[in-house]
Amino acid sequence: MSNQSPAIKGVDVQDQDGGLLPSKRKTSLQTFLVIVVFLSIATPAVITGGLLIRENYQRTIAHESQAAAGSYADLLQAGMTMPLWNVAPSLGEPLLDTVKIDPSVLSVIVQGADGETFLLYEKENLEPREESIEMVRQISFEGEKLGSVALRYSLKSARQRAAADSQLLLTIIIFQLIFSLGVVSYFLRQRVIKPLVALERAAVGIAGGDLKTAIPQLQADEFGGLSRQLEIMRGSLEQSFTTLEDRVNERTAELVELNGELQGTLDKLQQAQGNLVQSEKLAALGALVAGVAHELNTPLGNGLTVASSLYDATRNFTREMQAGITRAALDQYIADMEEGTHLVVASLERASELVSGFKQVAVDRTSAQQREFNLAEMLNETRMTLSPMFKHTPYQVRIDVPERVVLNSFPGPLGQVVTNLLNNALIHGFDGRDHGEIWISAEQVNILAEPGVRIVISDDGNGIPPENLGRIFDPFFTTKLGEGGNGLGMHIVHNIVTGVLGGTIQVNSALGEGTEFLLTIPLLAPVSPIEEEGKGD
Ligand SMILES: Nc1ncnc2c1ncn2[C@@H]1O[C@H](COP(=O)(O)OP(=O)(O)O)[C@@H](O)[C@H]1O
Ligand SMILES: [Mg+2]
Repeated sequence: MSNQSPAIKGVDVQDQDGGLLPSKRKTSLQTFLVIVVFLSIATPAVITGGLLIRENYQRTIAHESQAAAGSYADLLQAGMTMPLWNVAPSLGEPLLDTVKIDPSVLSVIVQGADGETFLLYEKENLEPREESIEMVRQISFEGEKLGSVALRYSLKSARQRAAADSQLLLTIIIFQLIFSLGVVSYFLRQRVIKPLVALERAAVGIAGGDLKTAIPQLQADEFGGLSRQLEIMRGSLEQSFTTLEDRVNERTAELVELNGELQGTLDKLQQAQGNLVQSEKLAALGALVAGVAHELNTPLGNGLTVASSLYDATRNFTREMQAGITRAALDQYIADMEEGTHLVVASLERASELVSGFKQVAVDRTSAQQREFNLAEMLNETRMTLSPMFKHTPYQVRIDVPERVVLNSFPGPLGQVVTNLLNNALIHGFDGRDHGEIWISAEQVNILAEPGVRIVISDDGNGIPPENLGRIFDPFFTTKLGEGGNGLGMHIVHNIVTGVLGGTIQVNSALGEGTEFLLTIPLLAPVSPIEEEGKGD
């Protein structure tokens, strides 16, 4: 038993670093085995020991005491013959004294043939009811009965001896028990518990994913066999894991390669998208140039007509002058001249005005420079440049913007936004309609305590179906694929509003009820405009 507690302690310590091994369960196996062994050894030992002790006890008391008392009685029977024959008690006293020496002799009574007491000994300080046996012998000589001797002999010392013997026997049994338990639990621990713990730790290791550590090889018994089988299992598991890992690595490499290819494709796509954005911007610039040409056409045409009719009038006048001219004809010529030159000057002034206005728009569009500008003026100029688009259509653009709204922002990109939205209203909103109106309105608002403006551009056209509403800002989303749409207009609008202008854009629309775009932008544009947006505009 004594070498059990360190064993249990050892198991507990292993548990603490092993973690997964529940200590209760293991100690209970050990305790269980120890109890089983203890019972199987102790029960027969206790039973046989008990029987042995009892038997020994009885024998000591019955046989030994009887023998001793018997031999004293025999001695007295022999030794008292002569004193009785001679009727001389003093002759018997030396023998009696000898017998008295034994403390177990409690009393001796020698009687004559007539029954009177011949010699008597009784031990002093007799314990009351002390257990004893009695021996009686008849004394006779040459056939004549002389008397008798009765001896009482105490069982006390015999009992004491028997008890001492039993104690010794008990000690031996207990010692034997302890010894066998020690031996059994030592070997139990060495041959069962330890290998079990080692195997369990190995199994826990494998369960935890450690396939590298070899299973400890145990003695050549059943546990040894189990450990060898486990080791074989671990080996094949490790091998299949390595194969698996290799496959995963292979696959990963393949995926990385594929990813690279995809990245390449994505780069190409992004490049293509950039190119398309660029061409969309160029297209807008083309529309601008067309607008410029168209607007200039009117004053220049007017000027040219007037100038050429003036030229004709002057040639007529010269011819008439040679034939002789009337006063009335002269007055008429001067009046025509005055009116005509006035018209030419007015036309040229209008043309010059237009050119300087367009110049500003063109500069804004191509350089994306930040400057202070009046919103209403900028919107009117933009509408003017787009007028050729609306000229021969039944559609109207109405601007209702307060005169005093002044921004310090990027008029070029903002113009591009308005152009794209008007263009979309025309192409998508009014598609298949015989009339339509676009309103551009604005009001000053505060955006997080900073001054800003909300511009609303709405049309009463076809509207956008709900399933498309969330996608119109996606690049390449178009409902006019193959009909001139590339799906970049709204994407560019979104980029410009949220990027260079630092604002937000919202759309509200319902099918058949028109579309409304809400642009909220700060009066002062954010400090660092995005270079990308600036390049092409
Ligand atoms: N005002 C509008 N009315 C109806 N649909 C519109 C309007 N503006 C945009 N859309 C829808 O949003 C889509 C995306 O517009 P956009 O990006 O400019 O591409 P695109 O004009 O090349 O088709 C259009 O195809 C159209 O379906
Ligand atoms: Mg468009």
